[in-house]
Amino acid sequence: MKTAVITGGASGIGRALARELSLRGVAVTVADLDETAGRQVAAECGLAFAPLDVCDAAAVAELYGRVMREHGRLDFVFNNAGIAIGGAAEELTLAHWEKAVDVNLRGVVHGVHAAYPIMLEQGSGHIVNTASLAGLVPAPFMLPYTTTKHAVVGLSLALRAEAAPRGVRVSVVCPGFTDTPLLDHANPGLPETALGNRAREAAVRTQGRLYPVEALARDVLRGVARNRALIVAPASGRAAWRGMRLSPAAAVRAATLAVRRLRVSGPDKSDK
Ligand SMILES: NC(=O)c1ccc[n+]([C@@H]2O[C@H](COP(=O)([O-])OP(=O)(O)OC[C@H]3O[C@@H](n4cnc5c(N)ncnc54)[C@H](O)[C@@H]3O)[C@@H](O)[C@H]2O)c1
Repeated sequence: MKTAVITGGASGIGRALARELSLRGVAVTVADLDETAGRQVAAECGLAFAPLDVCDAAAVAELYGRVMREHGRLDFVFNNAGIAIGGAAEELTLAHWEKAVDVNLRGVVHGVHAAYPIMLEQGSGHIVNTASLAGLVPAPFMLPYTTTKHAVVGLSLALRAEAAPRGVRVSVVCPGFTDTPLLDHANPGLPETALGNRAREAAVRTQGRLYPVEALARDVLRGVARNRALIVAPASGRAAWRGMRLSPAAAVRAATLAVRRLRVSGPDKSDK
């Protein structure tokens, strides 16, 4: 039986992936900071749960080592846990930046650092890192978030090249705005910002309709089965990414229009 560990598996995208993988007969370990929700998901789907803070490198290494010892194999690792950080650049404190780096970037680094040697030794395995469309295109009003997600894309593509000759696969998932609780609790434990309370509304105004999480989970698993380097969904996200590749300057102009529409920062002085 194949095995998978999903960080951030207690909610949203991680939970949908856990459900879908369990239906496909994979022995999933849901790992999350939120013990109550994590145990509930695990009980619903007949999966294992492990309390985990991805910021704790030793705990991440211990978990992957334990799954390997208990099952004798580690097939899939979804480094998916993440937090939303939102606000105009001038409102964000260093604490916003530090927390984004700790969870969204260091959390993925810890997962890769722990899982990759195990998979090298095994000669197989697939690391799937969750970045974001904000890791491919300019995403205003979430600077620490877009910064960490660009880093996760870079890490994943470079590791993919290094890992391929050794039999290990690496993919990176870049979803557009997806309908999950993430959009209702931006800036967790951090000072509030004007946009932080309006993340869901801002996402709907930017993208139109939020993408259903079950559809995203199916897209992700299709991309993983096909060993795609980048898994970008929904179609509007792929169009934005194509626009960015054709003309980064035009992509920034489109982002500037979105900034004007959201009107959360100071007066617009560009006409003067
Ligand atoms: N929802 C979106 O619109 C969207 C878009 C693009 C990318 N993403 C990314 O998808 C991933 C999953 O997000 P989601 O939308 O499912 O959010 P979510 O809030 O529904 O789920 C995230 C889960 O991660 C857990 N988590 C947070 N910090 C953790 C930590 N330090 N250690 C362990 N677990 C932790 C939370 O408890 C939660 O269960 C994130 O990396 C997010 O950045 C989400």
